[in-house]
Amino acid sequence: MKEEVYQFSYKIFDSFQELDDDDRALLKTAQDAVSTSYAPYSEFNVGAAAKLANGEIVKGSNQENVSFPAGICAEGVVLAVAASLFPKVPIKTLAISYTTSKSLSDHPIAPCGICRQSLQEFREKTGSPVRLLMGGLHGKVIVVDDASLLLPFSFKF
Ligand code: THU
Repeated sequence: MKEEVYQFSYKIFDSFQELDDDDRALLKTAQDAVSTSYAPYSEFNVGAAAKLANGEIVKGSNQENVSFPAGICAEGVVLAVAASLFPKVPIKTLAISYTTSKSLSDHPIAPCGICRQSLQEFREKTGSPVRLLMGGLHGKVIVVDDASLLLPFSFKF
């Protein structure tokens, strides 16, 4: 038997003002995309924006449905749109933001488990890590250099 330890590093910025110009602009695009969210059931509005390796920016938001499992996350929308418009083009950075009626948007949110699995496969398909930029409207911003770090033991066969 041997025991292994899994760990990874990430960066925490005190506010979006500390980001460089490109990252700040991408996070702002994700914040703007929140306005297109359709989330009458959860009242949790998520926006995401991807900067692709070809320089294109793709954005999207969560789209819910009265049949709850039919809803799709903002990250899932962006991955699907990016892959459809620009097949096989890697995503350099994916920014995620949100607003909610239930609390201040003052801390980052991370992609849900299903989106982590989708991000992992996007990385495999394009051969390039997806950097994550996570922040609300205010407060700290967390940067992870490779979204796959958030899903050790991802499902594969
Ligand atoms: N949601 C996202 O869009 N991204 C995530 O990473 C987590 C959750 C959406 C799904 C649902 O519409 C709402 O947020 C509340 O769960």
